[in-house]
Amino acid sequence: MTDSRYAAAIDALLERIDSTAEQTSGKFPHYGDTESGEWTTTADGNWTGGFWGGLAALGFAGSGEECLSRLSGEITEQILPRQNSDTAFRGFLFWYGAAVNHLVTGSEEAAQTALAGARGLLTSFNDRAGIIPLGADAEEAEAVGEGAANIDAVPGTVALLSWASEQTGDPRFRHAAVRHAQRHIELCVRADGSVCQSALFDTSNGALLDRYTHKGLNADSTWGRAQAWAMVAYAQAAQWASPSFLPTAVRLADWWLDRTPNAGIVSWDFAAGAGPDVPIDTSATAIAAAALLKLDRLVPERTDFRARAIAHVDALLDHLTPTGSHDSRPAGILTDGCFDKRRDFATRNELIWGDYFVLECLISLDNRFDTVRL
Ligand code: GLY
Repeated sequence: MTDSRYAAAIDALLERIDSTAEQTSGKFPHYGDTESGEWTTTADGNWTGGFWGGLAALGFAGSGEECLSRLSGEITEQILPRQNSDTAFRGFLFWYGAAVNHLVTGSEEAAQTALAGARGLLTSFNDRAGIIPLGADAEEAEAVGEGAANIDAVPGTVALLSWASEQTGDPRFRHAAVRHAQRHIELCVRADGSVCQSALFDTSNGALLDRYTHKGLNADSTWGRAQAWAMVAYAQAAQWASPSFLPTAVRLADWWLDRTPNAGIVSWDFAAGAGPDVPIDTSATAIAAAALLKLDRLVPERTDFRARAIAHVDALLDHLTPTGSHDSRPAGILTDGCFDKRRDFATRNELIWGDYFVLECLISLDNRFDTVRL
């Protein structure tokens, strides 16, 4: 991989931020059509809107273009009304949509919005069970509410709460973050280091009642994004909440690395097999690559983490438009993301968080910004 390929890919993604801003004006891009480049948007951000603000902030980090810092600020403001939504995915919204903006641009307004999100999340913490439940408004298909948990409620959430403790001096945020991260290991991480997306728990003490999945093949399989979200979540937890989470982050990464091709993109679920009829998920590979680059910094003796992240990014760039000289699609679309195969929903699309994580990897590999704490 040459630096010029990274630079060209960053330029394409910057172009995509511009074309996205032009067509979404005030709404949040959710998933995109990979031929036309047209986005399906949401008005309130759903669980994905924070990645749009984070993407603009990363664009600023990679280019220094002030207009991207302003764009990120505008998107952060749009997220504020979600501070009291009853969903654990406020961690996604307020970490990536506000705290990342603050960490990249230094914006004080973004810090205040991130703190508002952290305060809202803290009010949802069930102290007896040691967890922020998925919540009644969680953007998932089936069992949500006070006794339900998802591994994808850990990335962003634990970092945001721990960061809020640093900002305010109030230890309650970090305390909730550590217990939330620990409880999800008990609920979702299997003995072999693989991850089940979801669990039901006893609201009086947090004990595991049952495991299930919203978006994976079944409760015994490993949905690609469940593993990838866990990898990035515990790499964040090891830095922001407690170094005691580092062995979990490494165990999760080892399970992933033992089962993924060196070059190539994972299938949407590890039990789904492979082939032309089986969707792959570039967003899962992008999330995992970002996690591996963080782990490379946290465990410097593991030289394989960076090498495998580079191989993942190399594979991802084969799915980033333009994919050849005759590709006339809008530039900077990360194709072949799979939103929800179980429901045949946006199974070969551009996904806003896929764009975010591939840009995070690229600005790190091209030495434009230190992304380890993001
Ligand atoms: N809810 C997070 C995801 O679908 O990846």
